[in-house]
Amino acid sequence: MRRFSGEEEGYIYSRWGNPTIFEAEQKIAALETFGLGIEVKGILHASGMAAISTLMLGTLKPGDKIITHFSLYGGTDELVTKILPSFGITAIITDLRDLNKAEALIKGDKAIKMMYLETPANPTIQCVDLEELSRLAKQHNLIVACDNTFATPYLQQPFRYNVDFIIHSTTKFLNGHGTAIGGILLGNDIELMKNKMTKVHRLLGGNSNPFDAFLLIQGIKTLEVRMERHCHNAMEVAGFLEEHSAVAKVNYTGLASHPDHYISIKQMRHPGAMLSFELKGGIQAGIDFMNRLKMCVRTVSLGTCDTLLSHPASMTHYSIPKEEKEKYGITDGLIRVNVGIENIQDIITDLEQALVR
Ligand SMILES: Cc1ncc(COP(=O)(O)O)c(C=O)c1O
Repeated sequence: MRRFSGEEEGYIYSRWGNPTIFEAEQKIAALETFGLGIEVKGILHASGMAAISTLMLGTLKPGDKIITHFSLYGGTDELVTKILPSFGITAIITDLRDLNKAEALIKGDKAIKMMYLETPANPTIQCVDLEELSRLAKQHNLIVACDNTFATPYLQQPFRYNVDFIIHSTTKFLNGHGTAIGGILLGNDIELMKNKMTKVHRLLGGNSNPFDAFLLIQGIKTLEVRMERHCHNAMEVAGFLEEHSAVAKVNYTGLASHPDHYISIKQMRHPGAMLSFELKGGIQAGIDFMNRLKMCVRTVSLGTCDTLLSHPASMTHYSIPKEEKEKYGITDGLIRVNVGIENIQDIITDLEQALVR
């Protein structure tokens, strides 16, 4: 009775909470607030998408609108464009790197209640300015949420810029080994997180489980060393690709040629493990390149110790019309790379033999 009435803390049922899950939540909250002097609460979920669903359904109501950037993880894009509209929640998808345009849109539509950011974004590696956008959003009383999956708290701390919520697909760099799907929603309004958001999480049922939380805790122990090595290797791979005659363009914010280079320097410790590049030969060159890889892995996920590559035009975005894909910056010869922590010579040797000059 004391537990049910809230008089005494304690565990009752695993969908509501578990000590291992609680430990993982506390560790990620500590990383995201390190040095900031603030307190946040995290809720671990079964996946990144489950965390995003709790965020949207816990904070928005019919008639509300979300403003977001056009380069967004495909699942999030589909959630806001295909699922949420049936609950009366719609999205304005724009280029949030254009601050004047963002301001004009927000001023012109009082139904906009949330600014949803993802930086660096999947799969284009575009970055948006967390400080400026969060300031703009706060001037108009918007909720600000940021997907920090690609950066991790080691490289970037969005709470520094006054965002209200952070989301991670912990499946990626936080776990680091591709051993468990997971997600977390962190919020700086403790009362809201403890009450409404906890209730929404428990009732939607996207809870994690103790074993996945245990694997996540093991992975987090090596976050700093992994991220340092990922970023070092990514810079080397970007430099190698930039010089290669089969490559038309390299998208890596660590390169001065990237349009978001300065934003990434401003808000990130290092530019991260993710990059993409365009092969000159289009779709067939992409397919041939992927088929020739020997050590690096062809797969859609990211954030593991291994170098993982995907060719959106023949894989994740196969069924999307060409014009539609190009609107999102996905060209036929685009290859996305999660640069792993293997020996850098091994990675470059494999890429070199797979690229045709
Ligand atoms: C940036 C980003 N956010 C969210 C997700 C969704 O996470 P999950 O697959 O754990 O549901 C992904 C998955 O790839 C992602 O890349």
